[in-house]
Amino acid sequence: MKKRIGVLTTGGDCPGLNAVIRGVVRAAENLDFEVIGFRDGFEGLLPEGGNYMVLNDANTAGIMAQGGTIIGTTNKGNFISKVGKGDITQIKAEVMERARSVIRCLGIEGLVVIGGDGSMTTAHQLFEGGFNVVGVPKSIDNDLEATARTFGFDSAVACVCDALDRLHTTAKSHRRVMVVEVMGRHAGWIALHGGFAGGADVILIPEIPFNSEKVAEAVMAREKAGHYSSMVVVAEGAHPVDGDQLLRQGDTVGEVRLGGIGEAVARDIATRTGKETRTCVLGHLQRGGAPTTLDRILGTRFGIKAVELIHQGIFGAMVSYQNYNVRHVPMADAVHKLRLVEPDCELVRAACAVGVSFGK
Ligand code: F6P
Repeated sequence: MKKRIGVLTTGGDCPGLNAVIRGVVRAAENLDFEVIGFRDGFEGLLPEGGNYMVLNDANTAGIMAQGGTIIGTTNKGNFISKVGKGDITQIKAEVMERARSVIRCLGIEGLVVIGGDGSMTTAHQLFEGGFNVVGVPKSIDNDLEATARTFGFDSAVACVCDALDRLHTTAKSHRRVMVVEVMGRHAGWIALHGGFAGGADVILIPEIPFNSEKVAEAVMAREKAGHYSSMVVVAEGAHPVDGDQLLRQGDTVGEVRLGGIGEAVARDIATRTGKETRTCVLGHLQRGGAPTTLDRILGTRFGIKAVELIHQGIFGAMVSYQNYNVRHVPMADAVHKLRLVEPDCELVRAACAVGVSFGK
């Protein structure tokens, strides 16, 4: 039987997943490995014999520019190891055993897990349970510790920037305040980068709890200076100094779902300023569509590196982007905490220097 590498995509999808898959396949074929793509994340490891497709040069040709993932993903199921606001649960022994037997039967030498913070926590548990695992950091949220970048982030930021470019013109025409809610879970990276690039006037992020009065003051200060419209970008995890994050109701599995703060901020601005406000929730638009050039390049390089690690027998490691180079770090380093925006970092100060208010 040919040497085999397994690959799976897990957690929320994002642009660039297919670029990683293609990178894995090309690098693996060069080293004479066959690639097994498990379907629907870790769930593909459970049915007897596994649920998978053989990936090769032919069926991965042309996928780099496609959003989503050709092998499917899920942020639910039997392998969820992060719940609520980030509490860690142990994967059941019986689930681990079924996965182990599938990996053994298929002769998989190493498994590439392409996922975010929750998925790396699961991958780390598998590694500790004896699986030969290598992680590839994925997330539009850019919140994984031990890597300067996750792929998917740049594409999400590009989406926010494009939306703001469009919303500026309508806000200006109507002299309105436009409040744009963006994703990012507990991190404000998307709001900060997207808001900065898209010329937002106010950016509200979880790492800097805001004062509603200051937000309204920022809008009125613009009014006095002759700018009758304002653009407010709110991260879904942002919250006022005296209030909590807003949760979406309904889901009980996996991590919390945030949302609703955009509407709350818009209502508050309207009450305090008397200005007409509108809310736009960008939602899953930020996760769809073609990856940017940066995410295609980063994703491909990540895929190649993951195969290299397996070839060298280095497991329990996560591919990491550091100082413009793709390296690797122990997976354990990536899962112990989230990488959040430093409230006094250079980008926050730069935004303040061009007149952005953080509501403080
Ligand atoms: O982690 C990526 C992310 O898009 C977050 O920004 C967001 O909070 C969450 O996933 C949404 O998840 P779902 O796909 O379950 O709505």
